[in-house]
Amino acid sequence: MSVRREERPDILSGTQISVNFRGLKALQGVDIQVPEGAIVGLVGPNGAGKSTLLGVLSGDVRAQQGVVRLGGKDVSGLAPEARVRRGLARTFQLPQLFDELTVREHLTLPRRLAQVPSRAWSDPLTGRFLHRDVPEEQEVDALLASLGLEQVADTPAGALPLGLTRLVEIARAVATHPTVILLDEPFSGLNPAESRLLSRTLASLNQAEDIALVLVEHDVEVVFDLSERVFVLDFGELIAAGTPAERPAVRAGGQQRHLGSQRAVREVRGRHGPARGLLRGPAAVRDRAAWS
Ligand SMILES: Nc1ncnc2c1ncn2[C@@H]1O[C@H](COP(=O)(O)OP(=O)(O)OP(=O)(O)O)[C@@H](O)[C@H]1O
Ligand SMILES: [Mg+2]
Repeated sequence: MSVRREERPDILSGTQISVNFRGLKALQGVDIQVPEGAIVGLVGPNGAGKSTLLGVLSGDVRAQQGVVRLGGKDVSGLAPEARVRRGLARTFQLPQLFDELTVREHLTLPRRLAQVPSRAWSDPLTGRFLHRDVPEEQEVDALLASLGLEQVADTPAGALPLGLTRLVEIARAVATHPTVILLDEPFSGLNPAESRLLSRTLASLNQAEDIALVLVEHDVEVVFDLSERVFVLDFGELIAAGTPAERPAVRAGGQQRHLGSQRAVREVRGRHGPARGLLRGPAAVRDRAAWS
């Protein structure tokens, strides 16, 4: 019997997350929930705190306050590597690859590391994207093909254009056999053909493999198309959350850049506490301009 979508437990959640960078409140009491197998969007203007929130969830950024749960367990004190072993993978806004290693070598690394015995790695994952019982080479070939990376399999990452490095990061994330992947602006820098391939790959990872995705993306239409739930951050605060279709405030919050009007801001703010000034000095003006 299939479980109704709204009854699925959260595979990942952050509760009351606050982060200060030397007095700058990058996140203030933010809550986010990612149901098992869901695609969740995270939008907001430049500097809203999206990457910081992904960092807290992955363990790369230390929060002053809040709890991160992965598969129902509190992982707030765990290092990023330990979270990866429990099924959490991520990509970075600026891809972080080893310049000298080839694309193929990047994809074999997670499996080599998995030779270290641990409960998380010995659990069988039958019927998933990558099968434990297939030879390493076959597994890596399938991954390369799924992201259109066959031609550059033996190219060192340092010699690749930005768009391809994003795809390699995603392939590497998948190679860790995750239950959830955090993607920080994965479409940025891709050409249209690469974007189409990535859209199809993300949909297939989600639908066929049941991998949950958290998608940070500036193109809100892409986010609304793919996501079943969208969270809107602004100045480190969660100002709206819900489905794009059912919650006009979410759509308005995500579309400030398109509407270009304060009406959308008022609609979101009106439902989520007292209205604050749209602009807060030169930095805010610059950030808003960059988002539109
Ligand atoms: N390591 C850091 N040290 C100090 N301040 C930081 C650090 N990382 C981020 N910030 C600041 O925290 C705020 C949130 O940044 P963050 O990168 O999370 O925003 P974002 O929503 O991802 O923006 P963008 O859309 O530009 O990627 C910004 O004001 C940023 O300058
Ligand atoms: Mg960012």
